[in-house]
Amino acid sequence: MTKNYRIDFQPLGRRGECATGESVQECSLKAGVGMTNICGGKGKCRSCRLRVLKGCVSEPTSSERDFFSAQELEAGWRLGCQVYPLADCSVYVPPESMTTPQRTQVEGLEIRVQPDPPVLCYKVDLVAPDLSDLTADADRLLQGLLQKHGVACRKVDEAVLRSLSMDLRDSEWQCHVGVRSDEVISLRSLPGPNLGLAIDLGTTKIAGYLVDLENGKRLSSKGMMNPQISFGEDVITRIGEALRSLEKAAEIQKTVVEALNRLTRELCDEAGCVPEQILEAEVGCNTAMHHLLLGLPVKQLITAPYVPAASFAIELKTRDLGLNIAPGAYIHMLPNVAGFVGGDHVAMLLASEAFDRKELVLALDIGTNTEVSLINEGRIASVSCASGPAFEGYQIKYGMRAARGAIERVRINGNSVECATIDEAAPVGICGSGVLDAVAQMYLAGILDRGGRMIERHPRVRNVGGDRQFILCPDERPGEEGLVGITQKDIRQLQLAKAAIRAGIQVLLEASGRSGDEIEEVIIAGAFGTYIDVQSAVTAGMLPKLPLSRFRQVGNAAGMGAQMALISSAVRKEAENLALRIRYIELAGSPQFSKIFVRACYLGDYEEGKG
Ligand code: FES
Repeated sequence: MTKNYRIDFQPLGRRGECATGESVQECSLKAGVGMTNICGGKGKCRSCRLRVLKGCVSEPTSSERDFFSAQELEAGWRLGCQVYPLADCSVYVPPESMTTPQRTQVEGLEIRVQPDPPVLCYKVDLVAPDLSDLTADADRLLQGLLQKHGVACRKVDEAVLRSLSMDLRDSEWQCHVGVRSDEVISLRSLPGPNLGLAIDLGTTKIAGYLVDLENGKRLSSKGMMNPQISFGEDVITRIGEALRSLEKAAEIQKTVVEALNRLTRELCDEAGCVPEQILEAEVGCNTAMHHLLLGLPVKQLITAPYVPAASFAIELKTRDLGLNIAPGAYIHMLPNVAGFVGGDHVAMLLASEAFDRKELVLALDIGTNTEVSLINEGRIASVSCASGPAFEGYQIKYGMRAARGAIERVRINGNSVECATIDEAAPVGICGSGVLDAVAQMYLAGILDRGGRMIERHPRVRNVGGDRQFILCPDERPGEEGLVGITQKDIRQLQLAKAAIRAGIQVLLEASGRSGDEIEEVIIAGAFGTYIDVQSAVTAGMLPKLPLSRFRQVGNAAGMGAQMALISSAVRKEAENLALRIRYIELAGSPQFSKIFVRACYLGDYEEGKG
């Protein structure tokens, strides 16, 4: 008897149905996931690697046993064309096995900061030792730095020290020395740019930037999915996984370090250089990602009162983390504000220059977790809203992340529905901005009431398998209902996500004694925030009702802030001051929060629902 199993493809967030006898790869093609298939599914090219995260599947075939180690098989690694589901499954498809790239946001504001890098390079010509001058090699280098450049160094990184004697002789005593504070951290014979690496490490996505430390010029930039998704979509699940055992926590840490090393190589390939030329790394991330990367304890992050293990800026040798850049290089982690507001939000406030404004300004970084700050006459208060994965297309029936074929715009005019997809490809699902658009348009068209209930009289509203659905893309085949639709449950998910944000904004406004219409500017950052239609966000009631001219979408401002901190010691200092200035309000401790949240679930303007 033929059975259908449901397959969850991560990190794309796409779901598909797999019939008995169909491989995961065959299912992926039907679901529009776009897995590579070089040998036509014969198990020979090994281009379709994936990892089974959950669910029962067929035993490994002989080609899989040849290809993977016992340990890898144990960890769930399989070939998509050789693995057959025997139950509902969840699989992780790594980027190299996909033909469909995920849209990631790396661009943002211009960097306007005078370079003042933590690492400076000096050219030093030394006189070779002889019997009349027996000064030790490292001492000779330090003396040369002091005499020629007035730079007093007291230490030499141990990795530099190990190869220093040989390097000085190979370079005939002429070298370029990288100095950080009072430490020699690199030595090389050839001139070349002094590079820095800035990382915006998100729960779902990672953006990387390769930057010339001396002039602040960006040489390459790239985005990728955070492969830690295979341990959980959101930070709470991921922390829960890390708490299972020390080995699991180490595996989660290793997964992201490997991703960062891969991203660094790709950035260097694009810029025509090598990772060993990178002398400094800067990372901005939320507190959970920060702790998981550094291997800090995470249990207290998810236990009231939700405090970080450390908030101040942390510096350590990149080699201690396994990050492969110059052996003596340091990684600087931007300071955290609270358990759920991290250095990425500090970076965003710096880059958008929101932190110094005198008017009433609202700054949001929208994601699986949304951080919101209200800047009120120079005072800053922040909240963290659990907006959940609906904006990433997760927990939405036809939801997927923002990739080729995802519906990202919806317009409804009477009975006519127009959908625009990413890359104008055939629709295969709907991403977060599409869901928000659909809800706003359905509300405006009277298909949804204020409570979010779908009204049955529209011809596109149908009951499919017991679910009330609004069909966005009808299937032309007889008997088929639709390729992509929005269900009543999807509407509820979107209402919860947008209410979390709107309630967070309202708590901030009420704590400051201000009202929504007084806001002079709303700054929206983050990948989702970049692609949303602001009017739809206002119509749905996610953002306050203000003239559109008061909204500014700034792209990946957290990434820009990380670049600023990479090239400027003054910005690092500013970041530390800023993190201390921010007053964090824990929503769970706000007596009004539940009432505000319930009201914020309604569609339309929050103020209309007051009373
Ligand atoms: S497609 Fe070649 S091994 Fe799977």
